[in-house]
Amino acid sequence: MSAAAPRCDRTAAWRALHDHYRQHGRAFDLREAFARDTGRFAALSLQAPEVFADLSKNRWDLSTRNLLIDLARECGVPARRDAMLRGEPINTTEGRAALHTALRAPRGTAPHGDEVHAVLDAMLAFAERVRDVRASGIRDVVHIGIGGSDLGPQMAVRSLDAFATREIDLHFVSNVDGHDIAPVLRRLRPESTLFIVASKTFTTQETMANAGVARAWFTQQGGRDAARHFVAVTTNLAAAAQFGIDTTFGFWDWVGGRYSMWSAIGLPIAIAIGETNFRALLAGAHAMDRHFADAPLQANLPLQLGLLDVWYRNFHGFASRSIAPYHQGLERLPAYLQQLEMESNGKSVDLDGEPLSYGTSPVVWGEPGTNGQHAYFQMLHQGTDVIPVEFIAVREASHPYPALQRKALANCLAQGQALMLGKTTAQARAESVPTAAPGVDAGVLARHRTFPGNRPSTTLVLEALTPRSLGALIALYEHRVFTSGAVWGIDSFDQWGVELGKTLCNQLLPRFDTGDTTGLDASTAALLSRLR
Ligand code: F6P
Repeated sequence: MSAAAPRCDRTAAWRALHDHYRQHGRAFDLREAFARDTGRFAALSLQAPEVFADLSKNRWDLSTRNLLIDLARECGVPARRDAMLRGEPINTTEGRAALHTALRAPRGTAPHGDEVHAVLDAMLAFAERVRDVRASGIRDVVHIGIGGSDLGPQMAVRSLDAFATREIDLHFVSNVDGHDIAPVLRRLRPESTLFIVASKTFTTQETMANAGVARAWFTQQGGRDAARHFVAVTTNLAAAAQFGIDTTFGFWDWVGGRYSMWSAIGLPIAIAIGETNFRALLAGAHAMDRHFADAPLQANLPLQLGLLDVWYRNFHGFASRSIAPYHQGLERLPAYLQQLEMESNGKSVDLDGEPLSYGTSPVVWGEPGTNGQHAYFQMLHQGTDVIPVEFIAVREASHPYPALQRKALANCLAQGQALMLGKTTAQARAESVPTAAPGVDAGVLARHRTFPGNRPSTTLVLEALTPRSLGALIALYEHRVFTSGAVWGIDSFDQWGVELGKTLCNQLLPRFDTGDTTGLDASTAALLSRLR
């Protein structure tokens, strides 16, 4: 929503989409759509940099898509995108730009280029010095951060394991619960450990508490020369200095925490995969940025995914989306996307603070395939709710077991097929079922074994999981979240909803010492007395 753009629920396109939903959307059947239109796959699949997307197993067609594009235009999405890329303060409640795209732009092509590249060069040079283990003596790196200062680096390091040095182990500590840091410290020696304290604000309770524990451990274990073993990544360089850390890499308030893995917050990624690969990660993201900025709306993948999300959330009423990466390296991707999407778009007022009459962020969740198949896919296939599934398939494996790779990919395709095709009661009845109880009525059994089908899915395909393709994939998700947020007219770059719990925690903390429960609600008072 640009200043001049109307809110989505007050546009002609929104009304047209409601009519369209009543006439075509509600009863849309994927099986019939494929039977009707042999060109459906070609019309509804898209190639973006590094990522191919099959959008054809979704409950839409070109007429839906065109109405959604009208909606994007009426809501001023392209203008808001351009404002973001120019560095305008589109995060209005915090008065900040959202310029994560500048972090991966070649020198001289985006705002703040000089400062971005100065820090990037210094951070990458430092990473290379750490990677030279004979000179650095570093064998373990412990990254301490939470939320955006943890999820991106952790997800990327895991994803890019095939590119990582085998000489250094990377550990991630985020939770204030000491069961996170304790087992990590148990395995370490101070002389060969580097701690990275990563926090945009350098005030986050969890990170500061864990950093304090790490520093105390270092001293207790006889660690010497702490300056060589602790570095900080933050926008609050003064606080890092006050904590006693000399080596710091900065970033800026125009980088949102959940958009920060491209900044010095990516230091553990750079230590794992090295400078050349880190630059490839940035280049992949930049290629997707250019696609988002320049591709016509009909061929613009992040935009189309964001609009499909709006179609499902606001017209079909689907409140959840499941992510199923068929690559174990992407095991932390669902957690990363939860923050990206739900912290960005989990809002219920528009930019003017007016309550919304429509839903925003869906619940985003998932697990790598094939594990999810043996856990919750039952519900996706036969449960009462329709949950669009997003498959991520990677054609080329980086392991030496081709038979496993074929099985993983066949499973991925089979799940999309099963969700869409389903199985009629008549089909189920015609099958012999040796595992069924002997006396069970054939009709009853067939109804238990019926699959409604017509359940939508999107399949994203990467040729291989590389720094470049991962960069493009993550940027794709960032811009998709931007698109739905821009249609909804919300501030996708603030996160006021995390404040209340932090404040109440600080108020409760001293009560754990005193036991004072005065003024607390009865439930919290009783729980506090039980837990302290
Ligand atoms: O509590 C939410 C949050 O502010 C996130 O937005 C952020 O990514 C995370 O905490 C960590 O914040 P910081 O990097 O300042 O420690």
